[in-house]
Amino acid sequence: MLNFEFQNPVHVLFGKGEIAKLSHLLKNKKKVMITFGGGSIKKNGVYQQVVNALEGISFVEFGGIEPNPRYETLMEAVALAKKEGVDFLLAVGGGSVIDGTKFIAQAICYEGSDPFDVYRKRLPITKAIELGSVLTLSATGSEMNMFTVVTKGKDKLGYGHPLLYPKFSIIDPTVMFSLPKKQVANGIVDAFVHVTEQYLTYPVNTPLQDRIAEGILLTLLEEGPKVMSNLEDYDARANMVWCCTMALNGIIGVGVVHDWATHGIGHELTALQGIDHGRTLAVVLPSLLRVQKDKKKEKLLQFANRVFGINESDENKAIELGIKAMEEFFHSLEVPTTLGDYGLDRSFIEEVKENLRSRQFGALGEHQDIDLEKVGLILEGAL
Ligand code: NZQ
Ligand code: ZN
Repeated sequence: MLNFEFQNPVHVLFGKGEIAKLSHLLKNKKKVMITFGGGSIKKNGVYQQVVNALEGISFVEFGGIEPNPRYETLMEAVALAKKEGVDFLLAVGGGSVIDGTKFIAQAICYEGSDPFDVYRKRLPITKAIELGSVLTLSATGSEMNMFTVVTKGKDKLGYGHPLLYPKFSIIDPTVMFSLPKKQVANGIVDAFVHVTEQYLTYPVNTPLQDRIAEGILLTLLEEGPKVMSNLEDYDARANMVWCCTMALNGIIGVGVVHDWATHGIGHELTALQGIDHGRTLAVVLPSLLRVQKDKKKEKLLQFANRVFGINESDENKAIELGIKAMEEFFHSLEVPTTLGDYGLDRSFIEEVKENLRSRQFGALGEHQDIDLEKVGLILEGAL
């Protein structure tokens, strides 16, 4: 096992009716800013639940944070928060709203000229105002981690800092009943891939982390289809939702080797083509695993056997059967797995490489060997 330090300070409140506890959680705040997206919270009653719980607490609101949050929108929120003297940010939404709110939290305190430099140059921030979240879409794990992904121009970039952990996150599975099936499926795939990126690398003797990772994958395989066939099945939804949080709250990532290349390449597909985050991963991961299969051989065999029950003595066949079973799972959720499904061809691969080149892209993967050429190969395999 690799050395590690672990601390996750997020206070999680999980279950039906927990939004009402906001009144207690926020009682000492001077002025709260509620941040939200394009309006789903106004249609499904979540906005009203939040406002009811905030009775007696001074607040302003900023709506309109788009999926894959954009710098320009977030800077408007920063201006409003500064003008209003806000001392706490309450994100009410999915990963985009929470990530955008993490950006706002650091940008309010940033003293340089462009707070996106923090993402671009990976600057260590020293200050951020506090934030909390009411999660409305389970997928990213942003509610219980320190990461944020923001887009400026053609650059969709991630950043992480311990000052950006939410102080609390309220996860009420019932508020997710209003999600369209497509978003539910995206969330299942996103969580599945978060697990594989901390699991499908090379072994460093971590049986506990492996078994927790496999437990999350198996639970997603079991509960995901139940949620898809009955969006209001509370028990299935609660189990799926907790899988999404557990997939990226740090627990399965301690002491193991990571490979975030699928996300790195997937972000390009969103930045250049606007494909939903979870869907980009379903396109990149199968091909990436095929291209990297020799380097990931032991874990891929373990994955095929323990997650998909494949007992095949020919190692190459077993690996391919495991990858195919994963693709079939994505298809069963109506999530496509090729670039062709989005009408994209070889010319798009050049566009991705050009965009990466313009940012002086180095390399990705657990061996830092996924360079521009290999990104090309992976995308060719996904055509
Ligand atoms: O904007 P509104 O109107 O709220 O609608 C949203 C949005 O259109 C809708 N929605 C959310 N909750 C709903 C709902 N509709 C009905 N009922 C509800 N209860 O869903 C749409 C998508 O929302 P979004 O927040 O964009 O989705 P998601 O949670 O998948 O977040 C994606 C973003 O998170 C980043 C992605 O790159 C992407 O930008 N990620 C963040 C990570 C992190 N912080 O750790 C890791 C992830 O790998 C990922 O990169
Ligand atoms: Zn993701």
